[in-house]
Amino acid sequence: MIDTTRLEPNETPVMLVTGSAKRIGAAIIEAAHTRGYRVIIHCHHSKIKAQMLAAKLNDVRPNTAAVIMADLAIINDSDLLNQFVQDVVSTFGQLDVLVHNASRFYPTPIGTIDSAQWDELLLTNAKAPLFLSQALLPYLKQQQGCIISLLDIHAQNKPFNSYTVYNMAKAAHQMLVQSLALEVAPDIRVNGVAPGVNILPDADSDQAIDLDHQQRIVASIPIQRVGTPEDIAEAVLFLAKASYITGEIINVDGGRRLTLAGGTR
Ligand SMILES: NC(=O)c1ccc[n+]([C@@H]2O[C@H](COP(=O)([O-])OP(=O)(O)OC[C@H]3O[C@@H](n4cnc5c(N)ncnc54)[C@H](OP(=O)(O)O)[C@@H]3O)[C@@H](O)[C@H]2O)c1
Repeated sequence: MIDTTRLEPNETPVMLVTGSAKRIGAAIIEAAHTRGYRVIIHCHHSKIKAQMLAAKLNDVRPNTAAVIMADLAIINDSDLLNQFVQDVVSTFGQLDVLVHNASRFYPTPIGTIDSAQWDELLLTNAKAPLFLSQALLPYLKQQQGCIISLLDIHAQNKPFNSYTVYNMAKAAHQMLVQSLALEVAPDIRVNGVAPGVNILPDADSDQAIDLDHQQRIVASIPIQRVGTPEDIAEAVLFLAKASYITGEIINVDGGRRLTLAGGTR
């Protein structure tokens, strides 16, 4: 268990969050940093945002935030994966918490699915979390650390209509959490957080949804609001310290899974 209040500055725990230049990943990074963690912001395309976030955090406490850029496709090449692992571990000399947050999310209506979509959705939502976890396990074990995965309430027998490949990938990721939790205990804990609708797709993205649709989503959520990235970050930070919890998945969805019958996000 990480007790940041008892640690010398150079012993503060280190958290890596994949895909954390913006949105939910950035909220996890900020919440962890506020609680005294040193943080590694991983990004692929969002280099400027990642560097701005790191600069902001380093202004608060020098040398506590760093950026690593990589397409998670590196996991398909052992040399590139080894280099990534070395980059992660050499940044602060240790790794305590690994958060799998990076993801691709788009519909794949049946009849249109191609293998490039399969590869991309499975890579980001299932395969990379497995191979990154495997490669970083020795370092996490040294720290008696933990892994936390961003899952989805749609991976729990409530498939999201027309998102078959994404649903399959997140369901595989959920089983990865449970399988790994069993295999790497007692040294490393592995848990998941399943958001409902915790941040809408960016307005300029191809997944953007109109106001009408947003209102229908809110109406379907018992708590009657879209969640926030900070709601997710709180659950991640809780799991990072919860020394007797492993193999667990916390839904952070305002109760949406209770009313969900598949369909729209
Ligand atoms: N948004 C929600 O309400 C919601 C609902 C259910 C589940 N979730 C889950 O929660 C997590 C965070 O959600 P989000 O909406 O904040 O995520 P997001 O914005 O869709 O994606 C997060 C990051 O993933 C990175 N990424 C994508 N493909 C990558 C690749 N090949 N290599 C490296 N990085 C890659 C991107 O980094 P760059 O920008 O640097 O390219 C992106 O910024 C995801 O796992 C998502 O499935 C979210």
